[in-house]
Amino acid sequence: MKKPRILVNLFHPDIKKSRGNIKLINSISDIKGITIRDIYALYPDFKIDVKKEQEILVNHDLLVFQHPFYWYSCPSMFKEWQDRVLEQGFAFPPGVGDALKGKHWLSVITTGGAQEAYRSGGFNNYSMSELLKPFQQTANLCGLKWLPPFIIHGVLPPGIVGYKIISDPEIIELAKDYRKFIEDYQM
Ligand SMILES: Cc1cc2nc3c(=O)[nH]c(=O)nc-3n(C[C@H](O)[C@H](O)[C@H](O)COP(=O)(O)O)c2cc1C
Repeated sequence: MKKPRILVNLFHPDIKKSRGNIKLINSISDIKGITIRDIYALYPDFKIDVKKEQEILVNHDLLVFQHPFYWYSCPSMFKEWQDRVLEQGFAFPPGVGDALKGKHWLSVITTGGAQEAYRSGGFNNYSMSELLKPFQQTANLCGLKWLPPFIIHGVLPPGIVGYKIISDPEIIELAKDYRKFIEDYQM
C-alpha cells in the first residue's frame, strides 16, 4: 500500500522570533517523505500562486495547518490562503468541487493564553473547540475530515508577569507528540 502523503503548511509571520512554532517545525523537519512549506516565506508579497497551492493539496492525504492563534483565529496569510486557494469548483461545488474530499485536516496551533483561560467563565470565555468551529466547518464544506487539533497553550515570551507561560523544555516535550502523530499517520 502507498504511504499516506503529508503536507504541513506553516503560517507564521516572523518565524525567526518564534518560541513555539519553530520547535514544532524543527521536531518534524527530518521526517522523510513529508512536505513542509513556510507560506509567509514563499509569498512575502501575499500574492499566492493559487493553482500551485491547489496542485500540492491534491497530491497529499493529510493537510496540516500550523500557526499561532491570532485574535482567536489565525495570522492573516492563512485567511488569505483559504480565501484564494479553497475556491469554488475546486474545494466545493458547484463545479467539480470535490478535489479535497476524503483527505484529513489537522490544525496545529500555539496560543498565548493558558488552557484554563479557554472555557466558559474563563479569561477568554470560550473553549478552543468553539473558537475553532469556522476552521472545522471549512473542512466540512470541503469534504475534509476534521482531526482533533493539536494545541500548545501558554506560548508567550518568558518573563511576562501574571501569565502562565510554558517553558522551552515543556514545548520540546509536547512537540514529540506532534512528531509521533505524523510518524504514526505515515504508517
Ligand atoms: C497579533 C497577535 C494576536 C494574538 N492573539 C492571540 C489570541 O487571540 N489568543 C491567544 O491565546 N494568544 C494570542 N496571541 C499570542 C500568540 O498566540 C502567541 O504569541 C503565539 O502562539 C506564540 O507562538 P510562536 O512562539 O510560535 O510565535 C496573539 C499574538 C499576536 C502577535
